[in-house]
Amino acid sequence: MRRSLVAGNWKMHGSRAENTRLLNGLLEYDGNDWEAEAAVCPPFVYLTDAARLLKESHVFLGAQDVCAEAAGAFTGEVCAAMLKDVGCHYVIVGHSERRALYREDDQLVARKFLAAQSQGLVPILCVGETLSEREAGQTEAVVGRQFDAVAAVAPPAAFEKAVLAYEPVWAIGTGKNATPEQAQEVHAFLRSRIAKLDARIASLLRILYGGSVKASNAAELFAMPDVDGGLVGGASLKAEEFAKICSVA
Ligand code: PGA
Repeated sequence: MRRSLVAGNWKMHGSRAENTRLLNGLLEYDGNDWEAEAAVCPPFVYLTDAARLLKESHVFLGAQDVCAEAAGAFTGEVCAAMLKDVGCHYVIVGHSERRALYREDDQLVARKFLAAQSQGLVPILCVGETLSEREAGQTEAVVGRQFDAVAAVAPPAAFEKAVLAYEPVWAIGTGKNATPEQAQEVHAFLRSRIAKLDARIASLLRILYGGSVKASNAAELFAMPDVDGGLVGGASLKAEEFAKICSVA
């Protein structure tokens, strides 16, 4: 059985005070009736604070990005060992905002995936098509290519310690989520892609949906057989809303 995961991607939001409020708010719901695992991914500079606040909780800590290099002269970057050191369990790699705004290509994302795993972090690998790619009927080709770039350098067993997130770019931050059927179709496609490498691992791999997930649409999305939770942006910035999403997962 796959245990659902709901991960909050805070992006570049909040302040020390606001994040503390948000985490304390979330902790009021911690362990309530969640069957799902919950995780939050604050900005780098707040990870240490968050780790301290979450210490006794069931909420996992994640980062939003990681450097592909292990250490050295890479001004401004944060490596996987540092994330592990401050208490991260998960790290998002290949988010569409990184791909689009910071020109991260499939090969760089694959290297980040490996860098994360080399330090025992669990990468949440994001894939997803743009609206024009979807309209051109290229959804499977795009997410397949993004996945294959990682599978080309990581052995099938690597996916036993990874999470996949399908995030259609046109659904991120737009309030326009994929329908449960649209999500299911791509999730099933991704799972079958992995099953070609290893059927057992494919059956265990958690595939999250991301893109305008909120408390009001989470239940129908998470009810789909291949949707194992969500990667939540905007709605993860409100404790009550995020807690509701965790409780339906
Ligand atoms: P959203 O963002 O929930 O605000 O659409 C999701 C994401 O970018 O991970």
